Amino acid sequence: MQFLENLPPYIFFTGKGGVGKTSLSCATALKLASEGKKVLLVSTDPASNVGQVFGQRIGNQITELAAVPGVSALEIEPQAAAQQYRERIVGPVRGVLSDDIVRRSRSSFLERVPPKSPPSTSSRRC
Ligand SMILES: Nc1ncnc2c1ncn2[C@@H]1O[C@H](COP(=O)(O)OP(=O)(O)OP(=O)(O)O)[C@@H](O)[C@H]1O
Ligand SMILES: [Mg+2]
Repeated sequence: MQFLENLPPYIFFTGKGGVGKTSLSCATALKLASEGKKVLLVSTDPASNVGQVFGQRIGNQITELAAVPGVSALEIEPQAAAQQYRERIVGPVRGVLSDDIVRRSRSSFLERVPPKSPPSTSSRRC
């Protein structure tokens, strides 16, 4: 396929539900691995089925695929990722700024969680 030639280091597969994001991203990972490239396949879909495709539990940590040497996968869990982000921002100032300021920082913008299902026409799941 032509799009597989001269690929940039990061490739995004986006689109509304059922257009083939998972199938094409997994197939692309296989193709690149077959050329000896090291691949990290990341899904941001809260209902990711990448693990199902490869017959292996993946989850919220980088996991090497037993069936495909050279490919690792990660199924980002949005709530856990948001918590890690909050901690990265607030952690360094905890104990430096007052507890009240830290608490207010968390509850102002850091705890705003995006809606569970983005609009189908602008989905960025893969
Ligand atoms: N290029 C293709 N040609 C024919 N069928 C395809 C193609 N790509 C995907 N399909 C089929 O379309 C269906 C949806 O594909 P897939 O799960 O990859 O889409 P998706 O965009 O990841 O879906 P979702 O939004 O539900 O995660 C599957 O049944 C798959 O087998
Ligand atoms: Mg999918």
